Amino acid sequence: MRYINFENINVNPEWCFKNVRSVEQWTHGYHRYPAKFLPNIVKKLIEDYAINNGTIADLFAGCGTTLVEAKIHGLASIGTDINPVAQLITKIKTNPICPTLLEETFKYLTESFSLFNAETYKNIELHERIDYWFRPEEKQKIAFLYEQILLINDENSKNFFLVCLSHILKNCSRWLQSSTKPQIDPKKNISEPFYIFELHCKKMIAKNAEFYKELLYKNFINTPCEIKLEDARNTSIESDSIGTIITSPPYVTSYEYADIHQLTG
Ligand SMILES: C[S@@+](CC[C@H](N)C(=O)[O-])C[C@H]1O[C@@H](n2cnc3c(N)ncnc32)[C@H](O)[C@@H]1O
Repeated sequence: MRYINFENINVNPEWCFKNVRSVEQWTHGYHRYPAKFLPNIVKKLIEDYAINNGTIADLFAGCGTTLVEAKIHGLASIGTDINPVAQLITKIKTNPICPTLLEETFKYLTESFSLFNAETYKNIELHERIDYWFRPEEKQKIAFLYEQILLINDENSKNFFLVCLSHILKNCSRWLQSSTKPQIDPKKNISEPFYIFELHCKKMIAKNAEFYKELLYKNFINTPCEIKLEDARNTSIESDSIGTIITSPPYVTSYEYADIHQLTG
């Protein structure tokens, strides 16, 4: 057996991203996700190994970091993930929406907040798991927001706001956010759903506009990008159709994905 002494390996500064804050660039900050790639690592891998090398694939695409970076580099990409929420987030992160359309829909949504009447939701259906995590006052407002979003006609805009709603669920619940295990935070300062939804929407809308503008400018807006809901062990991606694979498989022993996703999945 050969042992490697890591002390003797020189650090290559090209791979040091200590002072680079890329996690909020483009659409990367839309939604939290366990064990997300650092976008700069993917960017460097693409620039060093994937330019002019065909389609990029990520078989465990998660929230789509690889696909977003592929798109901003004008490279076709395909991703797969077994989690439908991951697929939804990736779809929205990789396909920016016309900013004017999004602003109009956002205005309609925020105006609808004044229609909320807690009385209407007093007898909302009980649910053992939802009621464990949410207090009635937040649950009622989230139910209202969900109904309003479902009224949106444009499918992409509807999904955009669903991703935003999914992201704020933990803030509006009793979930202990500093932990990777699902547990109640008895001292939590729970966020007011309308306030935090509006705040996160504004952030996502600004990032959507930046990404949209940059892709238009570079003529990459129609660069192909597909995200499939499927099991990587039985992939439909054809042999020899991919130039580069950039992926990080599930950390089976460190993350209970089903547990962690129970609020958003
Ligand atoms: C480490 S995460 C990938 C995170 C991703 N690199 C990102 O930046 O968001 C691993 C992903 O593998 C997915 N996964 C687990 N088992 C899978 C399977 N059999 N087929 C496809 N995806 C799977 C999980 O849903 C999770 O999204």
